[in-house]
Amino acid sequence: MAQPLIIDSIATLRATVAGWRARAERIALVPTMGALHAGHLSLVHRARHEAPRSIVTIFVNPTQFAPSEDFGKYPRTFEADIAALAAIGADAVYAPQLAEMYPPGFATAIVPEGPARTGLEDAFRPTHFHGVATVVTKLLLQALPDVAIFGEKDFQQLAVIRHVARDLDLRTTIIGAATVREADGLAMSSRNVFLTPAERSIAPLVHDTLQAVAAALRGGTDATDALAAGEARLAASGFALDYLALRDAGTLGPLQPAQPARLLVAARLGSVRLIDNIAV
Ligand code: PAF
Repeated sequence: MAQPLIIDSIATLRATVAGWRARAERIALVPTMGALHAGHLSLVHRARHEAPRSIVTIFVNPTQFAPSEDFGKYPRTFEADIAALAAIGADAVYAPQLAEMYPPGFATAIVPEGPARTGLEDAFRPTHFHGVATVVTKLLLQALPDVAIFGEKDFQQLAVIRHVARDLDLRTTIIGAATVREADGLAMSSRNVFLTPAERSIAPLVHDTLQAVAAALRGGTDATDALAAGEARLAASGFALDYLALRDAGTLGPLQPAQPARLLVAARLGSVRLIDNIAV
């Protein structure tokens, strides 16, 4: 079980990548904020399938958290993360310090529009995608991977990153990977550790409700009625709903005839905000 190379500077990252490229080896990047679970590890498996060289980034990016959010208490499990990555054979972990990513005087941000302004996550976290787009663009420019893998669980994030990569002519192909779920359907998330046992027992209702709404839609129920029933079910179970929305799967804007649709939800349970989505 080889330890991944642990890299904390852009210079070492670039030298490592240059060595691989000199041997014509393709490189896959998996950006994460650590606290790795089976969902993240599935992204690394996908990376290893896509390219002989894989780099996992671990950086809890402060610019994507609003001051009121949980940056300080976001789980940090670096030693366990490295052990898990060693077990599945990741080649390198890029874990820069804050000053490497945001040196003093840092004054540039990417402010995405398009799927980043569709009234979903952006309505509740107005600057979140500025931080995500900025840090992901930096990581892609630092590592210049052939492919980068992101989970579909953060479906709007994936759409935003695809759009940014296209608009800025980044050389990396963005790949979305299916959400990994617990046996009861709950989408895996680093924040699930904050659910109390009582909250954990009702959290699977988020996915269950998505499935019920999707089944109603497929069965011909009017979208407004199907969404209202889903909202009522979540509210009755103790969730504070941010949104339950049916959108065009590509743009995340209004549903277009004959285009794939996506059903997306964000709901709060105590202090934890759960998001999930499925194809319809
Ligand atoms: O999905 C995440 O973990 C983060 O938003 C990402 C893509 C690593 C950027 O910090």
